[in-house]
Amino acid sequence: TVLVVDFGAQYAQLIARRVREARVYSEIVPSTMPVAEMLAKRPSAIILSGGPSSVYAEGAPSLDRAIFEAGVPVFGMCYGFQLMATALGGTVDNTGAREYGRTQLSVSKPGSTLFEGTPAEQSVWMSHGDACSAAPEGFTVTASTGVVPVAAFENDDLKLYGVQYHPEVLHSTHGQQILEHFLYRGAGIKPEWTTSNVVDEQIALIRAQVGASRAICGLSGGVDSAVAAALVQRAIGDQLTCVYVDHGLMRKGETEQVEKDFVAATGVKLKVVDASERFLAALAGVSDPEQKRKIIGREFIRVFEQAQAEIVAEAPDDHPVEFLVQGTLYPDVVESGGGTGTANIKSHHNVGGLPEDLRFRLVEPLRKLFKDEVRMVGQELGLPEEIVQRQPFPGPGLGIRIVGEVTGERLDLLREADAIAREELTAAGLDREIWQCPVVLLADVRSVGVQGDGRTYGHPVVLRPVSSEDAMTADWSRLPYDVLAKISTRITNEVKDVNRVVLDVTSKPPGTIEWE
Ligand code: XMP
Repeated sequence: TVLVVDFGAQYAQLIARRVREARVYSEIVPSTMPVAEMLAKRPSAIILSGGPSSVYAEGAPSLDRAIFEAGVPVFGMCYGFQLMATALGGTVDNTGAREYGRTQLSVSKPGSTLFEGTPAEQSVWMSHGDACSAAPEGFTVTASTGVVPVAAFENDDLKLYGVQYHPEVLHSTHGQQILEHFLYRGAGIKPEWTTSNVVDEQIALIRAQVGASRAICGLSGGVDSAVAAALVQRAIGDQLTCVYVDHGLMRKGETEQVEKDFVAATGVKLKVVDASERFLAALAGVSDPEQKRKIIGREFIRVFEQAQAEIVAEAPDDHPVEFLVQGTLYPDVVESGGGTGTANIKSHHNVGGLPEDLRFRLVEPLRKLFKDEVRMVGQELGLPEEIVQRQPFPGPGLGIRIVGEVTGERLDLLREADAIAREELTAAGLDREIWQCPVVLLADVRSVGVQGDGRTYGHPVVLRPVSSEDAMTADWSRLPYDVLAKISTRITNEVKDVNRVVLDVTSKPPGTIEWE
């Protein structure tokens, strides 16, 4: 394991991902964890992430220098670099010499462990206020910039390495190569971590955890719950029952996909509950987004509990249904403060937001994985491409994509419009490029149009295509005009009561991805 020590900025997750892209397993730990505890995890290497811009800032996190004396290879990045420099006797000046953004790096030791085989001049991403003017004794300075005399250093005997910039961001053109040089050459780690190891390891763990007991899993049709269910099914077979609650807020073809494709690929025992009437009745007259979310969450739990009771009643003499499978991902764990002690940015709730007082023991086989890794595990398990590559879809479904009251008729309109947008994006080969593209019906808005010589007074539909790495931040996708034109023409022609298609060009922040 490579430990990524998180100094509170948003970079640690990205670093952990990059390490895994280098096929080395990595985990994030908070900088407040005692060094002895970190070392007890027997890491093969340690990476110190970026953080606040200055080691001299008030309350800036520090680090016990014992971390540099344990014989474990360490790579400091940005703030981590400055910490390493000051801890080992180098000089970091609080000069106010700032560097932010793209910077030119001059490599002075092209044959060094980190920089070998990379250009003498390369673009790197900087974000710091202080500058290192002298490396610690015994260290070789390997690169500089116009502002910082010591922008990288290394000590091969001690296996300590550092760079002032952020190699983990794509703007640093050779960042991944330098990270891999640290891992393979500096720390001597072999790139052996793969998703098939994950599958084998998780299957063994699930079997040990569940034993002869039974488990249930709420299936949403989304990637995470599907992969989690497939993995658990592989481990314990028919001891698992999946429950799919059709709340009527699903997209076109979604229920059929779960009922047919997913079951065919996994052989999972599936219980489908058609609860659309119940959800529509509960949502009648409600326009407020938060209230809608609460109602959907509450109804979901009721239906789920009912299904659970039925499963027990059908085979009361069997082992108890003790476990609940959840598709929790690593970013959920980290962001909820479970991994790093960072602030709880957002309380993620899976599928329908099943509460803890359901009194289950949780099986969370994906809690160490990132989304793209989950997709790879899904592939490994033979799940259909349409499930593995599908875009994220919120638990409350189309219910939070109708601005205004949710009715059966409006859901039908939105389902059609959404299906057209998805079809055309897929046909244009854009599925991998965009993170997701919500289609939103502005049911409370009407505008005047003209169609076939007649006046129309219909609703607008919003296209919200975004690109993102983790949904925490996002940018609006610059879709080709001809694809937008095609979607617009088809939606206004084929969907009754929709006479206008508009494009959302807001990034996140300030806008969230979903409209509600
Ligand atoms: P926002 O709208 O907060 O969404 O920018 C970020 C990502 O989360 C998805 N999302 C949800 N997923 N239950 C879910 O399972 C929810 O209640 C929920 N709300 C938003 C959203 O689609 C996007 O991918």
